[in-house]
Amino acid sequence: MIIAPSLLAADFGRFAQEAARADRTSAEYLHLDIMDGHFVPNISFGPAVVKAVRPAFTRYLDVHLMVSKPEILFDPFVQAGADGMTVHVELGNAVNALLWKIRSLGKRVGLAVNPPTNITAVKPYLSQIDLLLIMTVNPGFGGQPFIHECVPKIQQAAAWRKELQLNYRIEVDGGINDDTAEECAAAGADTFVAGTSLFQHRNLTAAVNRMRRRVDVASQSLFPT
Ligand code: DX5
Ligand code: ZN
Repeated sequence: MIIAPSLLAADFGRFAQEAARADRTSAEYLHLDIMDGHFVPNISFGPAVVKAVRPAFTRYLDVHLMVSKPEILFDPFVQAGADGMTVHVELGNAVNALLWKIRSLGKRVGLAVNPPTNITAVKPYLSQIDLLLIMTVNPGFGGQPFIHECVPKIQQAAAWRKELQLNYRIEVDGGINDDTAEECAAAGADTFVAGTSLFQHRNLTAAVNRMRRRVDVASQSLFPT
């Protein structure tokens, strides 16, 4: 189980200190939401900010590209220290080349799917990816309520992974708190992005540990030992 605090919910005046705060927890990933004001109706931050936080977080930087032209940003994010980059399946015909490009840069390959998009859209790419990001809110803003109708997509992604003998991670993102993380874990998710529900706590370490306990227990019902 991987817990990925999202920097979008951190104090924007103190990015490096907030990344360092996440580093002092057991969180394996720091999730970085990149928005271009075109693919989504908001703008967040870019490669310069990621470069600035890179020294503060010693583990995996998970870059989620909610942008219309990710190809122009791959090199800058690699230079900035990204470990993996995720693009959206809604980019259609461009997706295949984008996934190959990320792979050729030696980074982990992620593919995201928005709530209104059918999960079958990702099926052709499953053998090419390391991570499938199932959005559980419409991307663009933190702090939105979890969309429960997305849960069957997690179950489908887990069923395909087993059937096709693949090992991509199943990541959920949007409205994730202890309760919704548990619901997603029981459906087969193994990677949990949480912004508001984690960064709102003074004691981020305790919040990460609490979420981890909940998803560990929920996943044991899926894979009893
Ligand atoms: C939404 C972003 C999320 C966001 C989640 O557009 O992709 O990663 O940070 O924020 P919360 O956890 O507050 O819903
Ligand atoms: Zn995200």
